[in-house]
Amino acid sequence: MAGGSDGRPPGKVVAIAGLKGGCGKTTLAIGLAGVLVEAGLATALVDVDPAGAAIAGVRRGPAGLLRRAVPLRGRAALPAWLEGLAALRRSAELVILDLPPADPLPLATAALTSELVLLPVAPTALDLAAARTTIGWLERARAGRPDGRPQLLAVPSRIAAPDPAARAPLAAIEALGLPLTPPLRLREGHDRAYREGLPPSVAAPGSAEHRELRAIARAVCETLGLAARLPDAGPGAVDAASAPVRTAYLDEPPGARGPLDLGAYRRRWRDRLLPFFGGRR
Ligand SMILES: Nc1ncnc2c1ncn2[C@@H]1O[C@H](COP(=O)(O)OP(=O)(O)OP(=O)(O)O)[C@@H](O)[C@H]1O
Ligand SMILES: [Mg+2]
Repeated sequence: MAGGSDGRPPGKVVAIAGLKGGCGKTTLAIGLAGVLVEAGLATALVDVDPAGAAIAGVRRGPAGLLRRAVPLRGRAALPAWLEGLAALRRSAELVILDLPPADPLPLATAALTSELVLLPVAPTALDLAAARTTIGWLERARAGRPDGRPQLLAVPSRIAAPDPAARAPLAAIEALGLPLTPPLRLREGHDRAYREGLPPSVAAPGSAEHRELRAIARAVCETLGLAARLPDAGPGAVDAASAPVRTAYLDEPPGARGPLDLGAYRRRWRDRLLPFFGGRR
């Protein structure tokens, strides 16, 4: 497997997925890219959505973030897209894919090429139903992978400010059966940062949304076994209801099943992906 030019292993792919539009994928992708760069990780943000919203959200920084708009337009484009991903993995320690809604091809491709899938889920019946469908697709793809990847983490998304009933929405998301990261609350700061073309870590350092993103990034790095400089947010920084409801993402030792061999997936992609579309093997 081709690694970085300096001999280090290829970067890990983290896909941000969800068939439901508007669940918070792009907001999470931008914010996470910002805190990962802040933590000193060579990070690439790949906008797989032809709408291009993620790239617009980081158009002014942070410095050092690799930005790529690489929409996946149909099955014929898949081999070239996978080559592009392999090249990015040689340059970055972490490659974040911001996936489009409603398109099963990028979802299936991400399921077969990523180490970790983050699923932002807002606590509404509509979002929860869509998340269950997405999880079903991802688990089907995972069943075809010898390494048991990708790991799945739900990210409670667009959670209203804490109130006495604050755990209820988290419990509804927890009922999906996936381990959860700390939540990303509904905060105007995301929109302000977006207008500036910068992630919250740069547009509003120390803000509540910045601290929440750091807490999510810590869960991501722990899951992937990546050492990152992400200092604890400090007392009171992340409210009690933001503590992870389950910490099962720590259960499986990172890397226990060996690294992902992208070359092998490239060779097999046809067999694996065609069944998703009712095609013949
Ligand atoms: N935590 C949050 N706080 C405040 N607003 C949010 C939050 N998350 C998302 N939003 C807002 O909700 C809308 C949809 O968010 P976003 O574009 O991130 O979702 P998406 O899943 O990427 O959507 P799509 O499926 O269309 O790509 C945007 O207007 C965004 O600013
Ligand atoms: Mg989006």
